[in-house]
Amino acid sequence: MSKMKRVVVIGGTGLIGSKAVKRLQDVGHEAVAASSRNGINAYTGEGLEAALTGADAVIDVSNMMSFDKDVISDFFGTSSRNLTTAEQAAGVRHHVALSIVNVDKLAANPYMAGKLAQEEAVASSGQAYTIVRATQFHEFIETLAGAYAADGVVKVPDIDFQPIAARDVAAALVEAALGEPKNGTLDLAGPERASFESLIRAFLDAKGDGSPVTADAGIDYFGAPVARGSLVPGGEYIKGQITIAQWLKA
Ligand SMILES: NC(=O)c1ccc[n+]([C@@H]2O[C@H](COP(=O)([O-])OP(=O)(O)OC[C@H]3O[C@@H](n4cnc5c(N)ncnc54)[C@H](OP(=O)(O)O)[C@@H]3O)[C@@H](O)[C@H]2O)c1
Repeated sequence: MSKMKRVVVIGGTGLIGSKAVKRLQDVGHEAVAASSRNGINAYTGEGLEAALTGADAVIDVSNMMSFDKDVISDFFGTSSRNLTTAEQAAGVRHHVALSIVNVDKLAANPYMAGKLAQEEAVASSGQAYTIVRATQFHEFIETLAGAYAADGVVKVPDIDFQPIAARDVAAALVEAALGEPKNGTLDLAGPERASFESLIRAFLDAKGDGSPVTADAGIDYFGAPVARGSLVPGGEYIKGQITIAQWLKA
């Protein structure tokens, strides 16, 4: 086995972060689950110097929800600048950030604009990095189905969708962090590409929810206009293994 590494997971108590911490431990490495509730705050800088001492890599999967573009951009931009500056001071070899497939084409959506600010802060930091852009998580489908539901009908954009399980995302992040920095981006998507409509239908069927699902090319993605391929990788990508059916069964 390769030498044991120490990897700090910023957002290590969240959905992806907790799975990344477990994955690191399962493959024989030391993982630090960092989050503001345990005194390590990427936005204010609290606790970063101590947490990063002796670390080989950082995986940033922190998150915040707001509908205000400036608030989200400030959170992701400031946090990324704080982290990469502290990493350089501590001699950390590699910064890995989790972003979203096609984020640069979806910046009319305030959250995507914030994620783009994160990518720009990381890429211009001078720290060695890899940005992993994932598609939407299986775990996010319920939120999406709810967001597009009105008057008993779920009306979604007429586009392709290729969601990925959080466990597959965590595994890909760990592999990236243990490898060499790309100083660029990697795309990551689930094993099945199908229409957004059919995957929402499959999800609702499994939940015993018979609400009709319809697709309409005029519907946007939370403020961003979308076309057929807007949420799926356009070129090469790393493919996750867990299908929606397997995930629902588990
Ligand atoms: N949802 C999707 O489909 C999707 C797709 C692609 C990429 N992503 C990206 O995936 C990432 C992770 O999402 P998730 O669902 O795992 O998030 P999550 O479950 O909401 O977890 C967020 C984590 O961030 C921590 N955190 C928040 N503010 C922090 C701060 N200032 N300093 C340190 N830690 C902080 C939280 O812990 P505390 O509360 O203790 O601070 C928590 O551990 C996000 O960046 C998101 O953009 C999401």
